[in-house]
Amino acid sequence: MAQASSPLAEMALVEMTNVAKHFGKVIALNGVSLTVNAGEVLCLLGDNGAGKSTLIKVLSGVHKPTNGQIRMNGEAVDFDSPRDAQKMGIATVYQDLAMIPLTSITRNFFMGREPTHKIGPFMDFKFANEVTRREMIKIGIDIRDPEQAVGTLSGGERQTVAIARAVYFGAKVLILDEPTSALGVRQTTMVLKYTDMVRKKGLGVIFITHNVRHAYAVGDRFTILNRGVTLGNYTKDEITIDELQTLMAGGVEVEDLSAELGDNL
Ligand SMILES: Nc1ncnc2c1ncn2[C@@H]1O[C@H](COP(=O)(O)OP(=O)(O)OP(=O)(O)O)[C@@H](O)[C@H]1O
Ligand SMILES: [Mg+2]
Repeated sequence: MAQASSPLAEMALVEMTNVAKHFGKVIALNGVSLTVNAGEVLCLLGDNGAGKSTLIKVLSGVHKPTNGQIRMNGEAVDFDSPRDAQKMGIATVYQDLAMIPLTSITRNFFMGREPTHKIGPFMDFKFANEVTRREMIKIGIDIRDPEQAVGTLSGGERQTVAIARAVYFGAKVLILDEPTSALGVRQTTMVLKYTDMVRKKGLGVIFITHNVRHAYAVGDRFTILNRGVTLGNYTKDEITIDELQTLMAGGVEVEDLSAELGDNL
């Protein structure tokens, strides 16, 4: 329910509190909290299996949380399906990028939201192609032929199609699950640049990564997960890149280990 006492502007766009998710005996999340504000990038960091993808699947309506709460602009929300989350303005670009390589860029851009002619059930390709081309140019990519197969685009360009699509369809929260993990330096720079562009448009972004340098380049806030629990929530001025690196590497454990090895060598 809305908290009548605090003004809307001060409320977090998304607030997840104490979220737990169990898969039978597997405890993927065990009390995780995070905050995303409009016009900010929250980086979600953590090792393999830390629970990053599970957490954003809870926020995207794919999984029901076993416990905990999600609020958007102060209001409790409860998603029964990804469509519910989508309706609230949550757009998710998954780790395995749900695109169909052999179909056109336009088809992928409008997947599930095909514009039709005024008469008949047929997709309006002329309009769709124009929009796709225009929206991609807005983020700096000149696709000469939007009917070319999406599989012919580079990994970075494919990520930007997914980002442009989310923005065009009016997302408020953009979730990017490891968008840079398979990319080289130039393509990574491209994705970081567009992430920044999306932030400047006023969306809240959740950027998942293993890479502390990518996170620090683009993040306003950092949430570090470790085996399903939060290791910490920091704003950029509360943590240095070295501290973030140490936390990611398991923090104290690694320092202990090197001290131990040092003693024995
Ligand atoms: N549908 C599921 N059923 C059972 N266990 C699951 C399921 N989804 C995730 N898990 C488990 O939950 C834990 C967290 O997985 P998750 O995919 O969220 O990690 P991650 O932080 O995204 O890792 P990565 O960096 O490798 O993508 C893992 O131990 C995983 O095996
Ligand atoms: Mg993952």
